[in-house]
Amino acid sequence: MKKLVLTLFICVCLLFLLQAQEGNLIRIETRNHILVYGVTKGQQLQQVYLGEKLANTADYAKITGKKQEAYMPFGMENVFEPALRVTHADGNPSADLRYINSERHTIDANVTETMIQLKDPQYPFTTTLHVKAYYQEDVMEQWVEIVHQEKQLITLYNYASSMLHFNATNYWLTQFHGDWAKEMRMETAPLTAGIKVIDSKLGTRADEFEAPFFYLSLNTPSTENTGELIAGSIGWTGNFKFAFELDERHALRIISGINPFASEYQLNPSEVFKSPSFIFTYSNNGKGQASRNLHQWARKYSLLDGDQSRYTLLNNWESTFFSFNEAKLGQLMGDASKLGVDLFLLDDGWFGNKHPRNGDTAGLGDWQENKEKLPNGIGYLVKAAKEQQVKFGIWIEPEMVNPKSELYEKHPDWILKLPNREELLSRNQLILDLPNPQVQDFVFGVVDNLMQAHPGIAYIKWDCNRFMTGMFSPYLKKQQSHLYVDYTKALYAVFERVRAKYPHLPIMLCSGGGGRIDYGALKYFNEYWPSDNTDPLERVFIQWGYSQYLPAIASCNHITSWGKESLKFKTDVAMMGKMGYDLQIAHLSEQELLFSQQAVKTYKQISDIIWYGNLYRLVSPYEENRAVLMYVNNNQTKAILFNYTLHTRFDEVFTNVKLEGLDAHKNYSVKEINLYPGSQSACPENGKTYSGSYLMKVGLTVSDATPLSSSVFELEGME
Ligand code: DGJ
Repeated sequence: MKKLVLTLFICVCLLFLLQAQEGNLIRIETRNHILVYGVTKGQQLQQVYLGEKLANTADYAKITGKKQEAYMPFGMENVFEPALRVTHADGNPSADLRYINSERHTIDANVTETMIQLKDPQYPFTTTLHVKAYYQEDVMEQWVEIVHQEKQLITLYNYASSMLHFNATNYWLTQFHGDWAKEMRMETAPLTAGIKVIDSKLGTRADEFEAPFFYLSLNTPSTENTGELIAGSIGWTGNFKFAFELDERHALRIISGINPFASEYQLNPSEVFKSPSFIFTYSNNGKGQASRNLHQWARKYSLLDGDQSRYTLLNNWESTFFSFNEAKLGQLMGDASKLGVDLFLLDDGWFGNKHPRNGDTAGLGDWQENKEKLPNGIGYLVKAAKEQQVKFGIWIEPEMVNPKSELYEKHPDWILKLPNREELLSRNQLILDLPNPQVQDFVFGVVDNLMQAHPGIAYIKWDCNRFMTGMFSPYLKKQQSHLYVDYTKALYAVFERVRAKYPHLPIMLCSGGGGRIDYGALKYFNEYWPSDNTDPLERVFIQWGYSQYLPAIASCNHITSWGKESLKFKTDVAMMGKMGYDLQIAHLSEQELLFSQQAVKTYKQISDIIWYGNLYRLVSPYEENRAVLMYVNNNQTKAILFNYTLHTRFDEVFTNVKLEGLDAHKNYSVKEINLYPGSQSACPENGKTYSGSYLMKVGLTVSDATPLSSSVFELEGME
């Protein structure tokens, strides 16, 4: 068996090599798609083709039409938005990139990395384009590495991760925008001539207003199941930029990368500037397929421990805010245990003594237990949780500081703030000067000290409650234009250290709502906080937005007191992701508690389908007054369907919902689950068995018109 696998692997490698080197074309393939580069006689690298594979490989060489330079620099003949702009050590502000060579590494049977080296004929300046192709998932990752051997430093003004070219009759851009508590609102519009930019300039995070994700539909607008599109994202936890330039010939270029705004970067000889990865998938079957590709890729290659389990939890934030003591926390741990969740998460407010953290105005930066609230320290809490048979997790926000803190008093030079100007506070806090290695030690130490002192800590929530304004880094001195880039690099350096020492410690990525959700950070995190807005009606839309790019296993969905919807509705919405609670359990009625205890048990039985299954979005809340979506496990034996009726109109009539992703030839039992105690399913198909073919062609009458009602169905394939 082993021999067979090895032989197969070698064959695949050889095949890749042969394919890559044919003619003067560089072909980079995934299961259904291909990116082809060609080299002209003058050694210019051009993009020849990007799209669905052609049946005949020889046909790529026949592609005619004006091909475009793959990675267009500024300074020579290019008059459009460049991917690269550099001023050489001698002051020459132009770059000319010529093909030198390309090589391909086979990382494993599924992943290859192609490197294409480009060099300026007049300068010792090289840009290497990297493309990683994930064959099964149909995903590609692109980045560049820039290096030079000039006599002195050079200045980079533009340094995109990728440039892609398209030739379609029309282009539609779907973008995601919002703000605190209204994240990921989806909007689609046709692109017109000129440049459309989606970017951010927030420094500590990629987004709050514009999210680092897009769909570009080609020729016709795409739906869930139809249309040709690419879904793209940038793995960078800082300022990002996507520029979509539609030129005079109706050709489109997408330039993706770090936002070069106010970020010219000086590069010393031999220093390598590595851009973050632009990640994209191509789909000929609409957005649903693109999302499934990215989910599969993220679970396997991006999100930390994407194929492992997650903890259900009870968080104390909304039930106590800053006001708690040991007794109160003990009671909440008891509630967590009663509820049946895995973990109790202690949020903000547990630290600071000279300046106690009793509100958001003081204490941030002073990571010692507050003696008044917690006289027996964290160790006592870890033990108390253990006694209640739940695990213990804790909140930190290690990159930040309140002016009212000992940290601020001791290290005023560790803080980002402009000289000769008043401090610009946000949530009463300032940001630490992370490019400073001493600050990195401190931030790493916040995690490390906690874990060293209390190895029983089973979970961390890493928060980041402000973006950058009025910034100046005392450490960077005269190189202030490096700040945005170096902050993110320093953040990754800290994350690397945390993960080197604590590779599997579950950590939630939170940012005062959904401001820090990108594939760059998720490499180090198990899950993310989508929004402070947990009103389930809003969450249907917010989670719908994130589901376009991120797998459900990473989405922390908490049941809270936000919104007037029923506990049943809140619970059903939280279940389509990683369920948790942030609620006064003691205030639940007997029925509500019983329902919740049962819901936790039910969730634990079905969560593997939601976490690792394939998502099919069946009815969009943007198109109807309801949302319906389902998860199907990989061997199509089990599925969970979520149905949410939103604000309906008078006498609203809903049609049947046709399911997707099932095996047409299999029979499935349909069972409504997570029913409220004493209630019965109103679905006529409940308890019956149907073929996959019936379910996908005729469908189910899952929705009734009761506003803000919901139902969950389990489908089980019969032998
Ligand atoms: C913002 C987060 O989104 C909340 O969940 C909570 O952790 C607070 N920060 C604490 O300050």
